Amino acid sequence: MWTTSDGNELSQTLADQNWAVVPSFISSLEVHELSLEIDKLQHANQLRPAGIGRGDRTGIHPEIRRDVICWLDPPSIPAPQKRLLSQLEELKVYLNRALFLGLRTMEGHVALYPEGGFYRRHLDRFQDDDARVISIVLYLNNHWQREWGGQLKLYLGEQGLVEEVQPTGGTLVAFLSDQIPHEVIPALRPRKSFAGWYRR
Ligand code: OGA
Ligand code: MN
Repeated sequence: MWTTSDGNELSQTLADQNWAVVPSFISSLEVHELSLEIDKLQHANQLRPAGIGRGDRTGIHPEIRRDVICWLDPPSIPAPQKRLLSQLEELKVYLNRALFLGLRTMEGHVALYPEGGFYRRHLDRFQDDDARVISIVLYLNNHWQREWGGQLKLYLGEQGLVEEVQPTGGTLVAFLSDQIPHEVIPALRPRKSFAGWYRR
């Protein structure tokens, strides 16, 4: 069972407001190990500019998005990432039991926002493909400072309500992929994360 920042159970918070934040989804040691894996991918030249649109087919748009990513391909990934995927598998089972979402698979990538990196306001669900149901973001910098920027802004409806999430290591954000427009404001330090989508 997971508890959100308001003290309620994750499934309850997600059902009530379409988004939820779990402050310590993984330990700081796990954050550290996953962060080192991103460093390795970077040194091995495995991080590529992220595209916009399905299958990254519509191309790279640095005016919209400036992170570099590596998709996780389960058969070939190192132990820390394998552990993360199994934790996210447990989360999937939990969400399906509690909310009957019919989630089946997850696609996900690690991401590094270099200094100055951002991702303009967008929705995670594609216009021509409704398979993405729940978006998950997990932050991988243990000691993120507020003044480094890089916050995730969730736009919560007509009234201009905005929720700001600090990209602090171990924090997990979950939201409905087709309901919550969001953006990453410019990060002044390298900002590491995992982003994934439960699909049906
Ligand atoms: C994404 C995304 C948010 C974040 O990768 O689609 O919105 O906080 N990421 O990294
Ligand atoms: Mn997104």
